[in-house]
Amino acid sequence: MLTSTKNYAIILLMTTKILKIDVNHPEENKIAEAASIIKQGGLVAFPTETVYGLGADALLPEGAKRIYAAKGRPSDNPLIVHIADFEALDRIARDIPAGAKALADAFWPGPLTMIFHKTSLVPYETTGGLDTVAVRMPVHPVALALIRQGGGYIAAPSANTSGKPSPTQAKHVALDLDGKIPLILDGGPVPIGIESTIVDLSGDIPMILRPGYITKEMLEQVIGEVRVDPGLTKEDAHVRPKAPGMKYKHYAPNADLILVSGQKEDVVERINSLVREGREKGEKDGIICTEETAGLYQADIVKSIGSRQDEDSIAKHLYEILREFDELEVDKIYSESFQTPRLGQAIMNRLLKAAGHQVIEV
Ligand code: TXA
Ligand code: MG
Repeated sequence: MLTSTKNYAIILLMTTKILKIDVNHPEENKIAEAASIIKQGGLVAFPTETVYGLGADALLPEGAKRIYAAKGRPSDNPLIVHIADFEALDRIARDIPAGAKALADAFWPGPLTMIFHKTSLVPYETTGGLDTVAVRMPVHPVALALIRQGGGYIAAPSANTSGKPSPTQAKHVALDLDGKIPLILDGGPVPIGIESTIVDLSGDIPMILRPGYITKEMLEQVIGEVRVDPGLTKEDAHVRPKAPGMKYKHYAPNADLILVSGQKEDVVERINSLVREGREKGEKDGIICTEETAGLYQADIVKSIGSRQDEDSIAKHLYEILREFDELEVDKIYSESFQTPRLGQAIMNRLLKAAGHQVIEV
């Protein structure tokens, strides 16, 4: 009894070390320190090109259990296994279709996750009880070095508390997980800012379960027909998304987020009038807009997410801006919609979820 009380106290009092690491040439001693934690079944947060991940040894049931506990994540929500070389795939996945090899050649290392039937090497704790496994080979040098030194298979969800926006900077990880994990590798802001595209290759026709930086068109250029999980687009509660994680409330800021969609002038006018009404009621409201419109709003808090001419900048700042609004403790956030040509689907997928699908069409 006494021992278990002591253990409990140790978990509560864990100090989280934040180690700055060189992104292009990760220092060997820092990678070694992180890898030794992973090999002992512990947790390390690390940068990838998409978002920060919370890593554990994917082949140890204990590692996955620690991830679920630290994130407060339901344990039926499977984890992505990160690998660093192509040979690693055959040990954890079986019945790998030819299309997958073509996709790997085209997009790995990079922001693409593929789902396969799993081998017995992968514990059910890692796959949330499923017979399939999600696999990704990231391109970030820190991630690759950690995977190689840490045993070759790192399970890593985004390193946020379940339900919060994914972390794109080490300080976001610290805000959510300080005291719950021993180490954060700080590689500065990540380059992409939204999570990887997930494509399921375990069925007859490849199916996108989560849109991301690699678009449907890019996949189709390599393997032909690709479908999009109907659960992603329909608001019908009976159509369940196939990726268990996509059904949960997600990416949500503390304030009520409302999207306004339509022609630029109409959107600006409506948001300005909504903010005016809010002010009369004593509310503190904020606005998410773009460089092109920032000067047109009359509100106390107007944040530009990026430029419509550069949709990568919008993806990159999306989660950061949602977290900034949490710090400002606003009551409501009104946001423009960003149906941009290439990343619009991925951006709006996150933003609509963050807004709980509250959209005003003008
Ligand atoms: O970019 C990314 O993918 C980041 C970085 C860290 O690599 N990781 C990430 O992991 O976004 P996470 O756990 O936050 O999201 C993984 C999603 C969840 O929605 C989960 O349900 C789904 O992938 N998933 C994982 N394995 C699956 C499987 N076998 N079948 C269906 N969905 C799966
Ligand atoms: Mg996540």
